[in-house]
Amino acid sequence: MITKFNHVAIVVPDLNAAKKKYKEVLGAKVSKISNYVEHGVSVVFVELENTKIELMHPYGNKSPISKFLENNKNGSIHHICIEVKDIKKSVEKLKKYRIRILGDETPKNGAHNKPVIFLHPKDFYGTLIELEQE
Ligand code: CO
Repeated sequence: MITKFNHVAIVVPDLNAAKKKYKEVLGAKVSKISNYVEHGVSVVFVELENTKIELMHPYGNKSPISKFLENNKNGSIHHICIEVKDIKKSVEKLKKYRIRILGDETPKNGAHNKPVIFLHPKDFYGTLIELEQE
């Protein structure tokens, strides 16, 4: 079912400061800030040779990550994203194993414009997992 590691997402208290730190201290290739109004997040992509890191900050006042930042004021790892071959088949299998899918079970387009779902952290060892159609 899972194929490639896609990204790890980190919620940060100050996106500009985090972008600067990754660029200056770690010498990383960083994107400009993108605002995803419909997802309620602003994101900076840190491009690595084999994967990427997404630095996220709440956007707007109904952001799904506001509470997370409130509980983790210095920032923290929010989720990991792994690709799957067929997201619809994945949903069927997950349901069979009684793995909870957050929100709507129908895959919705994520930040990369590909269908994604999120698995309940309580069903996966305290880790929020995003599955993305490859
Ligand atoms: Co993600």
